[in-house]
Amino acid sequence: MSEIRANITAVGMYVPEKRVTNHDLSRVLDTSDAWIRSRTGISERRIAGKDQANSDLSVRAIQDALEGTPHRPEDIDLIIVTTVTPDMMFPSTACRIQEKIGAANAWGFDLSGACSGFLFGLSTAAQFIRTGTHKKVLVVGTDVMSSIIDFEDRATCVLFGDGAGAVLLEPTEEEEVGILDSTLGCDGSGGKFLFMPAGGSHRPASHETVDKRMHYVHQDGRNVFKFAVRVMCDTSVGLLQRNGIPTDQLSLFVPHQANMRIIKSSMSRLKLAEDQVAVNIDRYANTTAATIPTCLAEAHRQGRLKKRDKVLMVSFGAGFTWGGILLGWGMDPP
Ligand code: UT7
Repeated sequence: MSEIRANITAVGMYVPEKRVTNHDLSRVLDTSDAWIRSRTGISERRIAGKDQANSDLSVRAIQDALEGTPHRPEDIDLIIVTTVTPDMMFPSTACRIQEKIGAANAWGFDLSGACSGFLFGLSTAAQFIRTGTHKKVLVVGTDVMSSIIDFEDRATCVLFGDGAGAVLLEPTEEEEVGILDSTLGCDGSGGKFLFMPAGGSHRPASHETVDKRMHYVHQDGRNVFKFAVRVMCDTSVGLLQRNGIPTDQLSLFVPHQANMRIIKSSMSRLKLAEDQVAVNIDRYANTTAATIPTCLAEAHRQGRLKKRDKVLMVSFGAGFTWGGILLGWGMDPP
């Protein structure tokens, strides 16, 4: 009997209309376009409007994914929303999305994996598909980082942007299609290098926490950088070797988009050519859980992927967390 695997059968994305360039930031901060470009590879980012919450971005990404497909919101069984910037602490953003898109037959929940969230969500969704209990699962990687960034801290605010990406997973028994392998990890000892200190039960919101700017992203960039370079390479090499895939047979490498220098170090270790790598950090910056699904959506839309192409997605993030998923692409180009 052939194995049931989870296959991506629709993909979409949304980024807000408002562009903020490095030059815009350099007018209000002690920074420069040259510094941001050379240290990160970022040129601009998108920032959500005041009336746009996480669920609004997510709904647009889901609509983009489902448009032109036979799938209707009522067909969805489960919605997994991966984010660190939910609309509210509760109810879950998944519940708000369920109502907004009219997914009357779906249940759903939020999953917190920071920049690894989308791969954690995809792996979780894949279990529901493999068991045969669920047939159509939406996974949304979505973040409104502008809601938790200190725009007076030049060391962090230049790095992030807002966006959402969504995929639909369905079962397949086709050879070499769907999620072929994955590896996921976390190491809580890295928590002190990237975190939001207040607003949870550890440090509930108070006047003091607000005055001390504790509801923003705090990061030790150098330590995160060192961890990222190591784990991105090790995860990629491990997955490719375990599956006997030489890097020249990889159609697309989709790394988390946090810093172009981190992406370049993986490319050089894996000996990847530029046309094998998905990049959107230059235009959207680090959109946390949205970086990988937005890259996938763009690659699909641009016709860069055909059925059975091997795709390797790799992430790292706060926690520390990391993950890698090897996919056999399951769709024909649009
Ligand atoms: O998905 C989330 C995961 N997060 C990450 O992946 C972040 C990983 N880390 C990084 O990407 C890099 O460490 C950064 C981009 C955050 C920083 O780059 P860096 O090359 O590690 O710079 P640095 O922190 O060592 O700072 C170098 C200098 C410092 O000045 P001094 O002390 O040398 O005088 C900083 O104050 O650059 C200064 N600096 C800036 N200068 C202009 C820091 N931010 C800025 C800025 N504009 N925006």
